[in-house]
Amino acid sequence: MQISGKLALITGASSGIGAATAHALAKAGAHVLLVARSAEKLQAEAERIIAAGGHANTLVADLSHADSVRALAERVMDEFGVPDILINNAGAGRWLAVDETPPDEAEKMMALPYFAAFNLTHALLPRMTERGGAIVNVNSVAVGLSWPGATAYAAARAALGAFSRGLAAELQGSGIVVTHAIFGKVSSAYWQHNPGSDTRLPRINKQLPTLTPEYAADTIIRVIVNNRRNIVRPRIFKLFFLLNALFPDITGALLHLGWKRADRLKA
Ligand SMILES: NC(=O)c1ccc[n+]([C@@H]2O[C@H](COP(=O)([O-])OP(=O)(O)OC[C@H]3O[C@@H](n4cnc5c(N)ncnc54)[C@H](OP(=O)(O)O)[C@@H]3O)[C@@H](O)[C@H]2O)c1
Repeated sequence: MQISGKLALITGASSGIGAATAHALAKAGAHVLLVARSAEKLQAEAERIIAAGGHANTLVADLSHADSVRALAERVMDEFGVPDILINNAGAGRWLAVDETPPDEAEKMMALPYFAAFNLTHALLPRMTERGGAIVNVNSVAVGLSWPGATAYAAARAALGAFSRGLAAELQGSGIVVTHAIFGKVSSAYWQHNPGSDTRLPRINKQLPTLTPEYAADTIIRVIVNNRRNIVRPRIFKLFFLLNALFPDITGALLHLGWKRADRLKA
């Protein structure tokens, strides 16, 4: 679909992939609505977009609460109209082993990204389907690969992946294209926002490129323009997914390399 002149709602737009995507969409001519909890960070991003000649507004919302998501959707439709483009990107969660994860933190990881994406899409979908558009669900390679030390995160990513695939199937032919955008490591502030997570990256990840938020944003722009339903970057992860489907013991062994936690538990 064409981006110029469209209304785009981006969650998690105060930082990283979401902020970069808001800038890229605005540069392509969309009116962007930036959503997150941090009012000041959102305002700073919006001011940069406006200074560059773009059109941006900010909406502060904690998407981990269903009521806030519903209120956000109503406010957006009242004040700005029905979005043509929805980017379900907001997400958080420390990479921890099961025994290290407080149960309420595991629930929060399900609240965001999965329930936030579900609730926001649910609230906007009836009006969006009236004229078509694009929904992009931003996910991690943890949707298809599990490694030790990030289990609740991977489970939440699997939920988002199942949601994205099911929604795409339901909306086929409706005029709304649903994209599942899957990324490996991105050099965003995610790693500062979720301390300790970088120590849980599988050793094999050192052999793979790290993406920038701008690269992820450009990828998202291209999938929208080209109506693509699935994208995986870096591409090498497609091979890992295939290998994992055929020979899960081999990928399991590769992803286990360098993992020490089991030894500590035994001691
Ligand atoms: N970084 C990576 O390597 C990587 C790789 C693949 C996929 N991803 C996924 O891509 C998405 C964006 O990640 P990122 O790397 O850009 O991380 P980030 O820089 O930490 O950005 C996360 C965004 O989500 C927002 N957010 C967090 N909790 C929220 C809440 N309760 N309500 C509303 N907004 C909330 C944050 O804003 P506030 O704190 O202001 O609310 C921020 O704007 C996440 O879903 C992440 O899991 C990341």
